[in-house]
Amino acid sequence: MSLLSRGFGMAGWGFRWVLVLVLLALWRPGTACPELCTCTGVRISCVDTERSIMAFPMLQSEAEMENITDIYIANQSSFTAINEKDLNLYRNLRNLTVTNTRLTYISRQAFESNMKLQYLNLKENNLSNLSWRTFHHLNISSLLLAGNTLQCACDNVWMKQWRGEESEELMCVEEGGKRRALAMLTLPNCVLPTVTLKPTKVTMRKGLNVTLVCNTSGMPTPNLNWDTCKLNSAHQKEGSGQMSELKLLNVSSLDNGCKITCRSDNMVGESEASVHLDILFAPVISKLMDAISDHHWCIPFSVAGNPKPKLSWLLNDQPVEECSYILTKIHDYSEGEYHGCLHLDSPTHINNGKYTLMASNEYGEDSMAIFAHFMHEPWNESVTDPLYYDDTPLGPPEDKVAVYVVVGIAAITFTGFILMLVILKFGRNSKFGIKGKHLSALCQTFIKDCFGKTHCSGRNKWVSFVEIEKEEC
Ligand SMILES: *[C@@H]1O[C@H](CO)[C@@H](O)[C@H](O)[C@H]1NC(C)=O
Ligand SMILES: *[C@@H]1O[C@H](CO)[C@@H](O)[C@H](O)[C@H]1NC(C)=O
Ligand SMILES: *[C@@H]1O[C@H](CO)[C@@H](O)[C@H](O)[C@H]1NC(C)=O
Ligand SMILES: *[C@@H]1O[C@H](CO)[C@@H](O)[C@H](O)[C@H]1NC(C)=O
Ligand SMILES: *[C@@H]1O[C@H](CO)[C@@H](O)[C@H](O)[C@H]1NC(C)=O
Ligand SMILES: *[C@@H]1O[C@H](CO)[C@@H](O)[C@H](O)[C@H]1NC(C)=O
Ligand SMILES: *[C@@H]1O[C@H](CO)[C@@H](O)[C@H](O)[C@H]1NC(C)=O
Ligand SMILES: *[C@@H]1O[C@H](CO)[C@@H](O)[C@H](O)[C@H]1NC(C)=O
Ligand SMILES: *[C@@H]1O[C@H](CO)[C@@H](O)[C@H](O)[C@H]1NC(C)=O
Ligand SMILES: *[C@@H]1O[C@H](CO)[C@@H](O)[C@H](O)[C@H]1NC(C)=O
Repeated sequence: MSLLSRGFGMAGWGFRWVLVLVLLALWRPGTACPELCTCTGVRISCVDTERSIMAFPMLQSEAEMENITDIYIANQSSFTAINEKDLNLYRNLRNLTVTNTRLTYISRQAFESNMKLQYLNLKENNLSNLSWRTFHHLNISSLLLAGNTLQCACDNVWMKQWRGEESEELMCVEEGGKRRALAMLTLPNCVLPTVTLKPTKVTMRKGLNVTLVCNTSGMPTPNLNWDTCKLNSAHQKEGSGQMSELKLLNVSSLDNGCKITCRSDNMVGESEASVHLDILFAPVISKLMDAISDHHWCIPFSVAGNPKPKLSWLLNDQPVEECSYILTKIHDYSEGEYHGCLHLDSPTHINNGKYTLMASNEYGEDSMAIFAHFMHEPWNESVTDPLYYDDTPLGPPEDKVAVYVVVGIAAITFTGFILMLVILKFGRNSKFGIKGKHLSALCQTFIKDCFGKTHCSGRNKWVSFVEIEKEEC
């Protein structure tokens, strides 16, 4: 009895597993493919000649559609249109082929979401016209249109300049039904727009007014549009038809470098002209900060100004002479400002003090000062520098001791270094000193006066003080 029921129990489990497997099989991605097409992960292909699809296939999930890079549709007699939203979930589509169908209509927004589309084959369809605006936002490397019943109309004249296959010679159909090469087509009242923008250079002081005039020609009458950076200056646009004015009032220095474009388009295509604003203004220092340590020490600053300001520094009101140890460097120009550093190589507390940055150009000057702190003066107990040591207290007393030990070691090293320099100098000058010039070429190494004797290590390296003493003395 118990054996029997256990046997049935197992059979029940087995059945359930089979059911699960069958369900899993049904959920396989492959089955999400539309009935009349075949799908392989990245590609959808619909070529069944017998039964035609009527619209773009849809997969079950958005994720699956995002994986598709290639859609191939051929020999579909009921396929007539690519509508606005048909392809918007195929965001990674690169190749689209729709060929040998009744495709008649392509929405101007058809490829709005298909920014990666590169290859578009629309050969052998029933397209009579198509706007360049449909592809305007895309980086299409080939667009194939041969074998359509394109009209010899101004709408299609833009195709003359388009990159297709080398061999592809587009034909168009005239009203009477006569076919001719699109490349030879010239139509009256069908002219690519031209644009002139005046003045072609805008160099002016801030606070003044300027009027930019954009003038266009082209047929049919083009649309005129201004495309500017985010303008800080007060501005207004005026005009109609072939002419438009952009007035900038009390021009702001923040608009220096701003690109202003006038764009003109009609069904034949688009043209544009641009000008960069060059706004002259006196320097403004917006930032000067206490020294920070990276590889070198740096006193960071940000300064605006056009032309580029000349920069100089005062330390405690005395001019700083720049050299390889103290040097101003601009690292970056962004958002209208030069960002840089006064670099200091191994500064000590001697370099502490009030640093004044002075910036000037022919329109004026600005200055700003900061107290820069490079090292705590260890012997001055009263100094608790709020800037350098900030709010972070030294914590447990061991830390303080550690600081003293480090400073102590540094001081001893420094003293030793000075001592060495003195000895070296003394050695050179003393009459027992080595006559460096007479020594052999091999002997270019460390030389010192060791208790009045001349020594030369002879080896091709600098020998330390201690080493020489040990070896020779
Ligand atoms: C999409 O493609 C990736 C990588 O090829 C794959 O791991 C993932 O399962 C696919 N997603 C779907 C929903 O097919
Ligand atoms: C489409 O049909 C043509 C002629 O009927 C045939 O030559 C071609 O191979 C077909 N294309 C596809 C992809 O099936
Ligand atoms: C389509 O895409 C594939 C890979 O994304 C590429 O190798 C191929 O050259 C493209 N063009 C055509 C016509 O298939
Ligand atoms: C092609 O499109 C035109 C309309 O532009 C239509 O009259 C004609 O019937 C279409 N031809 C086919 C074969 O679908
Ligand atoms: C473009 O073609 C479509 C379909 O044939 C038609 O309805 C439309 O009027 C045409 N547009 C122009 C400007 O000829
Ligand atoms: C446009 O595509 C070409 C290759 O087809 C590529 O070299 C170029 O970088 C692309 N440009 C942009 C802006 O994506
Ligand atoms: C700029 O234009 C405004 C308004 O037209 C005018 O009030 C102002 O005086 C002009 N400024 C200069 C410097 O011409
Ligand atoms: C605009 O340009 C046309 C020719 O290109 C010229 O005849 C016309 O005078 C210009 N208008 C202005 C306001 O510059
Ligand atoms: C011009 O703009 C500046 C700020 O950019 C403002 O301080 C000044 O009052 C403005 N001048 C006029 C005449 O509007
Ligand atoms: C120690 O620091 C204080 C505060 O900064 C200063 O007033 C004093 O002159 C310093 N003493 C010495 C010996 O440097």
